[in-house]
Amino acid sequence: MEVENKVIEAVKHLEEKIKNVPEIGIILGSGLGNFAEVIEEKIEIPYGDIPNFQSSTVKGHDGKLIFGKIAGKYLVAMKGRIHYYEGKGIEASVFPIKVLCALKIKKLIVTNAAGGVNKDFKAGDLMIIRDHVNFAQINPLIGPNDEEIGPRFPDMTYSYSKELIKKAEEVGEKLNINLQKGVYFYFTGPTYETPAEVKMAGILGADAVGMSTVPEVIVARHRGLEVLGISAITNMAAGILDKPLDHKEVMESGKLIEGKFQKLVKGVIENI
Ligand code: HPA
Repeated sequence: MEVENKVIEAVKHLEEKIKNVPEIGIILGSGLGNFAEVIEEKIEIPYGDIPNFQSSTVKGHDGKLIFGKIAGKYLVAMKGRIHYYEGKGIEASVFPIKVLCALKIKKLIVTNAAGGVNKDFKAGDLMIIRDHVNFAQINPLIGPNDEEIGPRFPDMTYSYSKELIKKAEEVGEKLNINLQKGVYFYFTGPTYETPAEVKMAGILGADAVGMSTVPEVIVARHRGLEVLGISAITNMAAGILDKPLDHKEVMESGKLIEGKFQKLVKGVIENI
């Protein structure tokens, strides 16, 4: 079946289950898994129940869509994402974003865990993504283009909405949450980067490195969404400190950031 028909099938299924059309989408990365707690009037739909959705195979990324409300705003949260490194193909990674777009959300908040490259950062920081480098060169728009959906050559100058960045900064200031701002550099993973790769990324403009987000943002921008990206700096990237990386520690560090991460994202939703 053609992808857009699969999207329509998934949307039909979801529309039968939800009462209100969401205006905001949010992808909950590692470190924001419990964000669901602050969502009111929740309707949870496991990925496995949605036609054409794949489930994530990564620990800490159990998959479901959570529809609900925060501060009177209807939203849909993706708890768990499919990373390209899971080997299901790039289409599986971005399919949920296509479905959220077809549900007619207007804004997408993308969150992730990332390794800090900028030496002014420290583990535990939050970084607003101001731009990205698609170093993995995985582009989900490769293939035929439907002009009704989006342009063949999408502009990526303002991939991350200036207006949403400003809002997030204002909320950070109001809540006394210190925010870094920088460039997210996309490697496919699943290996963490080598120290040499991290050094290279830094020279090429990276402030943080990670294994997600960029394909999702490309699809969201192609379909005209406004995007806000926030990284939880769970660790300093390989070689910045003289110690090895460990996924368990990265996850634990994500948990420590969770409180302020939740507060920030909730504050942003209240104010957009
Ligand atoms: N590299 C890539 N992805 C990550 C990292 C990292 O250091 N930390 C959390 N996600």
